[in-house]
Amino acid sequence: MFDLYPIARPFLFKMAPEKAHELTLKIMKSGLVPKVKSTPNPMLEQTLWGLKFPNPVGLSAGFDKNAEVIGPALNMGFGFVEAGTVTPRPQEGNLRPRIFRNVQHEAVINRMGFPNGGGKVFKANMAKFLSHSPRPAGIVGLNIGMNKTQKDPAKDYTALIRGLGAMGDYITINISSPNTPGLRDLQARGPLLELMDAVKEARAKACGAHPPPILVKLAPDLTAEKQQELAETLIEAGVDGLILTNTTLDRPEYLPSTFRSQPGGLSGQPLTQKSTKVISNFYRMTEGKLPIIGVGGISNAAQAYEKIKAGASLVQVYSALVFKGPSLVQDINAGLCDLLKTDKYDNISDAIGTAHTKK
Ligand SMILES: Cc1cc2nc3c(=O)[nH]c(=O)nc-3n(C[C@H](O)[C@H](O)[C@H](O)COP(=O)(O)O)c2cc1C
Repeated sequence: MFDLYPIARPFLFKMAPEKAHELTLKIMKSGLVPKVKSTPNPMLEQTLWGLKFPNPVGLSAGFDKNAEVIGPALNMGFGFVEAGTVTPRPQEGNLRPRIFRNVQHEAVINRMGFPNGGGKVFKANMAKFLSHSPRPAGIVGLNIGMNKTQKDPAKDYTALIRGLGAMGDYITINISSPNTPGLRDLQARGPLLELMDAVKEARAKACGAHPPPILVKLAPDLTAEKQQELAETLIEAGVDGLILTNTTLDRPEYLPSTFRSQPGGLSGQPLTQKSTKVISNFYRMTEGKLPIIGVGGISNAAQAYEKIKAGASLVQVYSALVFKGPSLVQDINAGLCDLLKTDKYDNISDAIGTAHTKK
């Protein structure tokens, strides 16, 4: 495919980041993004939770909040797309500007606060996607959250599972975005057990014979003790998998002060090592029993492979797409194949967690 991104990038970077994102969504919706011609590669295929992932590279939540561009994103070569975060009722999110990029360090800070069209709009868009026959190859996850004004989180999560649960291949319970007050407090034993009980009950009622797996997405800013407590709680709660990690509240000193002083969650290259460490910790603490989707500062195949060796079964990207464009997806997949061949692995699943077994 001829890569137009190097030509488009200077224009997009002259625009405010959120405007550039809106234009990108428009272009994707218009069908102007050509379909990547990729032949399925058995080295990269995996079945997890009974779902067949054609390759391990997914689009992370937040890019397609309203499930508007799932088809075009899958056609770009992603093995899976996670739409959302959706909340039951539409909300505006925080005041603009609320996304900031730093080109030198390939970093993004956002304090979006879940702007989205709400469950009804999301459902209509999902129905439209699902009506296409044949459906583009790839898996679709739904990332759900609570409205800013909700005092009883379980009400919003269960309402979304009742309304949308049957439409997704998997469901992500997002309890880690830093921009919704109180959301990260759900990352604690008591609140999480209570929430998961309600979520599983709603799933059993709404999804019948084919209940989608429930994944929980965590922040990278948890102490070692908190991580240990959560690892045990997540297994006890019957969670099916983890997404590690969301954005960080950290602000490394080397980032320029005008950028680092922006409130919100930091993503991109400054997050790479921190999220890999969290993946490694949870893989060890859960003894590899919970499949992990690794996300945070992946910008090339080597960084994706590090996360897989640390314990991730799949990976996701967001910020690096801003800096590198859509060719990133094919580059990571091709690079992963080369790395697997070098290490003499037949399939991506052979590499998962190998950093724990090798000295
Ligand atoms: C602008 C922006 C919006 C985001 N919105 C969401 C969101 O709605 N839900 C969510 O779970 N994560 C959201 N994220 C976090 C990403 O899904 C991802 O976990 C994080 O950015 C780390 O990956 P990256 O370094 O590849 O960007 C958002 C990230 C960015 C940059």
